[in-house]
Amino acid sequence: MFLSFALLFAAAACVLNIYILASFIRCRGKYPPFISSFGQVKRDVLKIAGEILAKKAEGARAADLGCGSGVLLAELAKDFPKTEFWGFEWDPVAYACARRKTGNYRNIKLCYGDFMKADVSDFDLILCYVGTGLEQELGNKLNREIKPGAVVVSEVFELAELKPVCRYESSLCGVPAVVYVYQKNV
Ligand SMILES: C[S@@+](CC[C@H](N)C(=O)[O-])C[C@H]1O[C@@H](n2cnc3c(N)ncnc32)[C@H](O)[C@@H]1O
Repeated sequence: MFLSFALLFAAAACVLNIYILASFIRCRGKYPPFISSFGQVKRDVLKIAGEILAKKAEGARAADLGCGSGVLLAELAKDFPKTEFWGFEWDPVAYACARRKTGNYRNIKLCYGDFMKADVSDFDLILCYVGTGLEQELGNKLNREIKPGAVVVSEVFELAELKPVCRYESSLCGVPAVVYVYQKNV
């Protein structure tokens, strides 16, 4: 019994490592892997995004760049049925999870592909949770493309170029983490 459990665990760990390595090679280490938002920092992002959307007019548009499992989109779409949500995801496994999670919401649209190539000029709210390799490049893109008044909420990672509006102290498994809020730097 113990041996079969150990073998099963080792096989799962092996598959996970191969998957992470394949993702890393695919993007040459540039893009962050699929790690779902969780814990206090996830709750804080949802709260901040909810407060921002509550102030926007009906028919607002929001995007999650690298939507992973679609967990943030699903929670927000439930509370804001009149907002149109877009999720961008390039990892096939994460994308499949997001499709499953968000399939019941008519106000969520998913795009399978690279968010660096997406047109982000018509969103009122943009969420992202990217790694350290993209702060400059994504910050440049967002500052160039978002419309005045649009708000960017970045989970854990600071972005360059944009104008910082607020920072919220949060935590991830007891470790301090920050949620950054930005607008266009004009
Ligand atoms: C840290 S995870 C965030 C997950 C998501 N917030 C959730 O709770 O499931 C970052 C996600 O961004 C995706 N990603 C990274 N770079 C991307 C890119 N250039 N285009 C599309 N998706 C990307 C990754 O595949 C990963 O799923």
